[in-house]
Amino acid sequence: MNRLEDKVAIITGAASGMGLEAAHLFVKEGAKVVATDIATDQLNEVTKEIDGEIVCYELDVTSEDQWKKVMEDTKNKFGKIDILINNAGVSFHNTLLEETLEGWNRSINLNLTSVFLGMQSVIPYMKENGGGSIVNCVSLAAIIGSADNGAAAYAAAKGGVRALSKHASINFAEDKIRVNSIYPGAILTGAAKRHGVTSHEVLGKAFEGTIPLPPYAGTATDIANGYLYLASDESKFVTGEELVIDGGWSSK
Ligand SMILES: NC(=O)c1ccc[n+]([C@@H]2O[C@H](COP(=O)([O-])OP(=O)(O)OC[C@H]3O[C@@H](n4cnc5c(N)ncnc54)[C@H](O)[C@@H]3O)[C@@H](O)[C@H]2O)c1
Repeated sequence: MNRLEDKVAIITGAASGMGLEAAHLFVKEGAKVVATDIATDQLNEVTKEIDGEIVCYELDVTSEDQWKKVMEDTKNKFGKIDILINNAGVSFHNTLLEETLEGWNRSINLNLTSVFLGMQSVIPYMKENGGGSIVNCVSLAAIIGSADNGAAAYAAAKGGVRALSKHASINFAEDKIRVNSIYPGAILTGAAKRHGVTSHEVLGKAFEGTIPLPPYAGTATDIANGYLYLASDESKFVTGEELVIDGGWSSK
């Protein structure tokens, strides 16, 4: 309890999966949470039961104007911004030869430009505040390509987030702004469900033989716990780090 006491945290893509789990956990740990998503009806519905300091704002992470508005509204509401969790992202499963220019641009925009806009928007507020913690959600796809040889643009976009996170961690260390990233493996969230995976057991079965650690698939909580560590002062001497949460998949 209270691992995030007095902290103000913005979470993107908080209407589902890892972002929603992070909103639950961060409030429980004492943070004031600004939960954001493009799916505002869903966001308002699923966060209704969260008991604590939480507000919901619309944020399409590809919109520079909406990023600016969320920063201003957060500052006006809570007085400062300590934490940004750049969680929102969507995978599109086209191989390099299948992908269209339109699809490529959509994926880069949603998964990479979004993180650029988020960091560019929040860093001035963190500087003013004397520091902060940014956690970017990457993917194992940035390290191993992708699970099914598809998702070329997604893997490239996430590889860009990996590099941009390192860049920012070095450039803003003097300002006491830490930038770390998380690499989820196979995790049951809305994304997996959209691809027809109905349960944790089904996802685990699909990755048995690929992921060494039972139950061969992770949960949104496994990732939210990583966000929590990197967002909190427990990781105050950690920056530029890449935390892989994948049941040992990438170690094989
Ligand atoms: N689930 C996995 O196995 C897995 C593996 C590696 C990485 N990831 C990454 O984890 C992060 C979270 O995904 P998840 O698995 O929880 O998926 P999810 O589909 O459950 O949640 C994603 C959320 O992002 C929101 N979103 C989509 N487009 C948006 C936009 N333009 N602006 C703002 N919000 C938007 C959606 O409405 C949704 O609420 C993503 O960055 C994803 O790439 C997931």
